[in-house]
Amino acid sequence: MSHILAIDQGTTSSRAIVFDAAGRAIGQAQKEFRQHFPHDGWVEHDAMEIWNDCLALCRQALRNAKLDARDLAAIGITNQRETTVLWDRQTGEPVAPAIVWQDRRTASTCAALKEAGHEARVQEKTGLLLDPYFSATKLAWLLDNVPGVRARAEAGELAFGTIDCWLLWKLTRGRSHATDATNASRTLLFNIHQQCWDDDLLTLFNIPACLLPEVKDCAADFGQCCPELLGAAVPVAGIAGDQQAALVGQACFEPGMVKSTYGTGCFMVMNTGKAVASRNRLLTTVGYRLNGETHYALEGSIFVAGAAIQWLRDGLNLISHASETEALARQVGSAGGVYLVPAFTGLGAPWWDPDARGALLGLTRDTGIAEVVTAGLEAVCYQSRDLLEAMAADCGTRPTTLRVDGGMVVNNWLSQTLADVLGVCVDRPEVTETTALGAAYLAGLGVGLYDSLERIAEQWRCEREFSPQLEEGERQRRYQGWRDAVARVCRH
Ligand code: G3P
Repeated sequence: MSHILAIDQGTTSSRAIVFDAAGRAIGQAQKEFRQHFPHDGWVEHDAMEIWNDCLALCRQALRNAKLDARDLAAIGITNQRETTVLWDRQTGEPVAPAIVWQDRRTASTCAALKEAGHEARVQEKTGLLLDPYFSATKLAWLLDNVPGVRARAEAGELAFGTIDCWLLWKLTRGRSHATDATNASRTLLFNIHQQCWDDDLLTLFNIPACLLPEVKDCAADFGQCCPELLGAAVPVAGIAGDQQAALVGQACFEPGMVKSTYGTGCFMVMNTGKAVASRNRLLTTVGYRLNGETHYALEGSIFVAGAAIQWLRDGLNLISHASETEALARQVGSAGGVYLVPAFTGLGAPWWDPDARGALLGLTRDTGIAEVVTAGLEAVCYQSRDLLEAMAADCGTRPTTLRVDGGMVVNNWLSQTLADVLGVCVDRPEVTETTALGAAYLAGLGVGLYDSLERIAEQWRCEREFSPQLEEGERQRRYQGWRDAVARVCRH
């Protein structure tokens, strides 16, 4: 009974991983699922498909680990955040497709609220900005646009949740309607200082309180999964949003420690201990909450990182596999003054310009495929530097090390260039499945498999450290070129 099953439900794929107590993955299963784009800027998921996939993946991961559910001490859940699900409490059926965090359909609602002067108050209470990224306006959209739904919500027939909450409801067959403080902190409805749903915000966004889940610590008793589902009643004991779970999986437990996850997007999160109000348009968010104590973080969210490489592959056919980018970049060494600003869906932190669009700048007659591909990789590094500069400005100190994870960082050239562009050491851990690992650690804490964060931190191992090698003048010159490129597409 010393194994943990982690469910990692991401934006494009779901996975289930069985970890042993030492944090080693011993069985896993993964599946991509359908993305729906019904209108320009809309992104939807089928919550039922997500649940059915996750259940099948849990069973598969257990088989792959040659274990059964009786060998599990606990289940941990981590998830794409902000994505909004609204379902019927009686039938357990969603009333509409889930609205994904990337969905921009509520941009005009957010703009109107901003226009009306609400942003400062919202930011003060939630640490977030008035942007369609977060759940509140997505939930309001469902209530206002799906016929009959507002009346059913007000009658107490419906339940709202982010994906963690939805999966928990399904795993417990409706016995638990709960979420954790990190996921709650991404809804725009949760007061991160008082750690409760905020009546004033519920009124502002016109959300009935009876829709909302109970908010618990990240390591807590979330209920037991129904025995018929996996073969035993296993406690769900850990929940955190994926970027916060990665913070835990990367053992960033001291204020000042930073991790950055490079997947479709890039999310840089710094443990700040106390809540730090950002003056540079970063997000103040809950890093983790344990034993009733909230540890805060600053987060910079970039919407396009790996997605730029996908675009080079699928949109432009410049490469046939992401792994080719490393050899191309080594061939030319740098993009040589070519800048790709991948603002395909606007720009996230610290610019927050939903109307910005992408650009390829600095082309010359001898620009070739290698330079363009390299510019795509460099863009990930420059965007990371934008975030790091904002964090340094907010905190008054510059981190010296960045812990990285996610699919892109297997690329050694990218990891080295990141160190060069940021001017800090980049540490890549042995276990790069840090998101799932973080959920497993939280669940392990929840059932007493670990007695402290120190025990968990001892298990973190660096696989490779990349130290900055670029000369300072060159580092600044290249970064200035990026800032000039951003200025061409962005209204700031
Ligand atoms: O805030 C969105 C984030 O949680 C999504 O992460 O890894 O599913 O792209 P990912």
